[in-house]
Amino acid sequence: MEIIILNSAEEMSKKGAEIVAAAVKRNPKAVLGLATGGTPVKMYAELIKLYKNGVLDFKKARTFNLDEYVGLPGTHDQSYRYFMNENLFNHININKKNTNVPDGLAKDIEKSCAAYEAKINAWGGIDLQVLGIGSNGHIAFNEPLSGIMTRTRKVAISQRTITDNARFFKSMNEVPKTAVTMGIGTILKAKKIILLASGSNKADVIAAAVEGPITHLIPASFLQFHPDTVFVLEKEAASKLKGKY
Ligand code: F6R
Repeated sequence: MEIIILNSAEEMSKKGAEIVAAAVKRNPKAVLGLATGGTPVKMYAELIKLYKNGVLDFKKARTFNLDEYVGLPGTHDQSYRYFMNENLFNHININKKNTNVPDGLAKDIEKSCAAYEAKINAWGGIDLQVLGIGSNGHIAFNEPLSGIMTRTRKVAISQRTITDNARFFKSMNEVPKTAVTMGIGTILKAKKIILLASGSNKADVIAAAVEGPITHLIPASFLQFHPDTVFVLEKEAASKLKGKY
């Protein structure tokens, strides 16, 4: 596990973009695991800049997103497919056929989750997985009590996360109560992982995930098992870490 602490969310976003860019430069067909939410938005803006400046080419890049709300079509402005199109895919030269987001409308969710896992494997696994972290320690929609062996599946979203995510919806009632998410086991299979976090509201959970015991009460703590995980932290999010890194 590596910890990088930076002075601002801008620097965190640039560092994240630098790591993603390095993966795509090393292997133009890289398979990227991508996250939504507020945290990676500026990192995606940096990647768009690098593409527009001719520094990066996404023509052959391939992506799998972590999660999607159940019941929202890709045209809904709060669906994660819509988010990815708006914040990244529509602005770079990626082939949309090479971008995957779990299907929140699948009639047979179990089958569709198994197919998502199979496709990740068939495409050679995820080279670089980008993560954010929920204030309760979730990664993707793996809420507290999610097991280390979990795979892509339908899950209930915790009340804490519904409250956190209500800011993106007109009212709390509109926040979906279930989602399809990659599992912890799916995420840990990625060759490299970067987790971005900024803001003092993430300080307690970052300290628990990095320095606390490995526990399913803080799903992000399972990243301590992974051989190549980098936490890219803005200083407020890192402010409760006890160690000097
Ligand atoms: C999103 C995802 C979530 C977010 C987390 C943090 O695809 O998987 O786990 O990374 O909820 O969200 P923000 O960045 O909005 O604080």
